Amino acid sequence: MSKVFAHRGSSLNYPENTMLAFKKAEKTGCYGIELDLHMSRDGYLVVIHDETVNRTTNGRGYVKDLTKKELKKLSIKRKWFKNEKIPILDEVLEWAAKTDLIINIELKNDKIYYEGQEEAVVQKVAEYGLEDRVIYSTFNHVSVKKLKKVTTSEVAALFSKKGINPLLLVRSTRADAIHANHRVMTESLMKDCQQNGIPVRLYTLNKPAIISKWINAGLAGVITDNPELAEKILKEKQ
Ligand code: G3P
Ligand code: CA
Repeated sequence: MSKVFAHRGSSLNYPENTMLAFKKAEKTGCYGIELDLHMSRDGYLVVIHDETVNRTTNGRGYVKDLTKKELKKLSIKRKWFKNEKIPILDEVLEWAAKTDLIINIELKNDKIYYEGQEEAVVQKVAEYGLEDRVIYSTFNHVSVKKLKKVTTSEVAALFSKKGINPLLLVRSTRADAIHANHRVMTESLMKDCQQNGIPVRLYTLNKPAIISKWINAGLAGVITDNPELAEKILKEKQ
């Protein structure tokens, strides 16, 4: 049966990649959460989607140029939720360790490569004893290979471009799973993966008809901004 992952937390109704969005996701009974990871100037693992803080906060600048202290001064730029702050990974893992959630940590290292990020995140996950409850993913396929060398946790190769053959991608990176944009996945490619024992999780499935179609096709993971809706559709099918 498909498992539901809340994309950037319960991000349809709450500000993405915030503790509030993760906590609201957990309340929906979903299987897991997905989050995005960058690195601050002073080496902290920072939970935010973009390379800069410009879109989601009241600040300006690259995450890599700001310290944890400077990042923590910023407020999330979304109506009604201005008290929310950018979390560092410790905060999410400390809370998640007390839940049953699976945590999909997407390393955002395809545009800016953060030296040492793979080792740092693997070490941090180990500090919280969450090795069996994380799935790493990244669009950077060199980083997928590196992750496979430094962790025994599941590692997924992400892609969003047409023409990529997931079987070849798994073979070349040694990834355990495929995470892909649903627009570039076909039922035939998914069957190939299933026949080869490769879990496929698709993002970002928000429309009922699309969620339903992929659940019927036996998708391993529904990555959605609306975990409540996906859980409801899933239950109706059980
Ligand atoms: O991990 C799946 C998905 O989150 C990748 O796209 O841009 O939402 O991080 P994006
Ligand atoms: Ca992501």
